[in-house]
Amino acid sequence: MFFRPAAFALLALTPLPLAAETGDAVAGAAQFIRCKACHAIVTDDGTVVQKGGKTGPNLYGMIGRPVAAMPDFRYSPGFKAAGSAGRVWDAANLAAYLADPTAWLRQASGDAGARTSMTVKMTEGSDDLVAYLATQVPAPMASQSPTAPNPVTN
Ligand code: HEC
Repeated sequence: MFFRPAAFALLALTPLPLAAETGDAVAGAAQFIRCKACHAIVTDDGTVVQKGGKTGPNLYGMIGRPVAAMPDFRYSPGFKAAGSAGRVWDAANLAAYLADPTAWLRQASGDAGARTSMTVKMTEGSDDLVAYLATQVPAPMASQSPTAPNPVTN
């Protein structure tokens, strides 16, 4: 078990939509093709925004959601531990996760041996994808982005 208070403090000081502001959501939408084999985006009212596989959880509303919080998905133990530790997806840790899922999970869960079944790494373009995912959230957050489709109103 290890915690790095300095790193946590830095994250806390980082404004939430950092990557969302620097990334290009339209380019990110096209990049979702790299996620589709395992992830769909389906809004809370069942609207399918992106068709995709079910190996991974639905990625709708991910920014602002606690880690490992989709009720109908069986997460790995490390993911559950990161969720129990109170980790929440924001633009910064989503970008870090996409760059190296296993390394991020080990840090976030405090378990140096944690493994995740998501092994895809994104070495470039993750800012765009994060910006896109930031538009795929319920209306109050989505309305901050000019490209948001605003599919739901709750
Ligand atoms: C080969 C299948 C696969 C691909 C491709 C994939 N993922 Fe995943 N993803 C998973 C699995 C499985 C999990 C759950 C991991 C676990 O429980 O350890 C996951 C988890 C996640 C989570 C955390 C969800 C939560 O509820 O906490 C995010 C965010 C995520 N993936 C984003 C992406 C993005 C963005 C892409 C495209 C770049 C992508 N994934 C590509 C399989 C995949």
